[in-house]
Amino acid sequence: MSDDLAARFRELWDEIAPVGRDADSGGYLRYALTAPEIELRGWFRAQAEQRAMPVTEDGNGNLFAHWGDPEGEDAVLTGSHFDSVPHGGAYDGPLGIVSAFLAVDELRAAGVTPDRPLVLAAFVEEEGARFGVPCLGSRLLTGALPPERAAGLRDAAGVSYAEALGDRPAGARPELLGRFGAFVELHVEQGRALVDTDAPVAVASAIWPHGRWRFDVDGEGNHAGTTRMADRRDPMLTYAFTVLAANKEARLRGAHATVGRVSVEPNATNAIPSRVTGWLDARAADPQTLAGLVEAVRGKLAERARRDGTAVTVTEESATPLVAFDGGLAQRLAALLDAPVLPTGAGHDAGVLAGHLPTAMLFVRNPTGVSHSPAEAATDDDCAAGVRALARVLKELTCR
Ligand code: GLV
Ligand code: MN
Ligand code: MN
Repeated sequence: MSDDLAARFRELWDEIAPVGRDADSGGYLRYALTAPEIELRGWFRAQAEQRAMPVTEDGNGNLFAHWGDPEGEDAVLTGSHFDSVPHGGAYDGPLGIVSAFLAVDELRAAGVTPDRPLVLAAFVEEEGARFGVPCLGSRLLTGALPPERAAGLRDAAGVSYAEALGDRPAGARPELLGRFGAFVELHVEQGRALVDTDAPVAVASAIWPHGRWRFDVDGEGNHAGTTRMADRRDPMLTYAFTVLAANKEARLRGAHATVGRVSVEPNATNAIPSRVTGWLDARAADPQTLAGLVEAVRGKLAERARRDGTAVTVTEESATPLVAFDGGLAQRLAALLDAPVLPTGAGHDAGVLAGHLPTAMLFVRNPTGVSHSPAEAATDDDCAAGVRALARVLKELTCR
């Protein structure tokens, strides 16, 4: 049943819906610090201003809107990210920010005055779609990634993160981080866990450990018509075998392995490639299984490269350990909301912040169960339920 909050959600949602939307795929191209994401950052500032919430920046690209003293201690932080994967869905990220503004409206309409400051965040480059490292903003803020390393990361056009940011990233901000007493990120559910349940909202228990490994395979570029099959050193074969091996090794372990990105040089139909680069995304429920999976894929890659006469280099681009969210907080929120508790295989800024402060996540049901795709979905009623849940959680945490 639709209600007024669902209508207000739709109204606010429609303001950002066209930004960065690709008309052909229906998906979003909202890469960090490119025009659509910059427009959304402007929208964030405007929404904050409408609510008399001053906005501060941390010098890394993350934005914060404050209800209460921006220098106040023990603040409750909520929010998410605007950036998307290539042709991603509408909800992954922005739902957490739009819901946070509406939760503020709900609290104010109910006459709630928080005892602890409430801070809304828009984290930068959560997906790592532009610069390769996911959760770049939260990793910088917490010191998990040194600013020198972030400054030198380059996008596909060769633009460095420092150039895109307009300055070198500031790096760890312990005094800012120290003012946050809790973080709650609301996010669209990215699998099918809630589809067949009565629950529009769930609470997260854990994030699977996961990471990204780039494998560069070098062979010999040559003519497709004149090079005898026996004479070839074709990196595409090494790449193709590795993709299949990763799939098999993941299945054998109940883990997840994906090669969703590939680059081929020179990328010509009638030339044997000189180089193929693939990116392995690997995830598992526990670190031992993940390590075993990556080791097995590396072994298969090396073995196949010997057979193909190719040379391989494997580079770990990011590694995120198992995140177990604060169990007491998760149980408390699950009881408050009468919501199920579930783990996820998706990465989040909440996973990075969980190492520094009590952190929780709320998931909003996704009827398609699809994410990182234009098919990602959530009904307005479920989004309204998410806003209500977030408002209850923020009231619980900010009012003593
Ligand atoms: C982020 O959404 C990730 O899990 O890759
Ligand atoms: Mn995502
Ligand atoms: Mn996300």
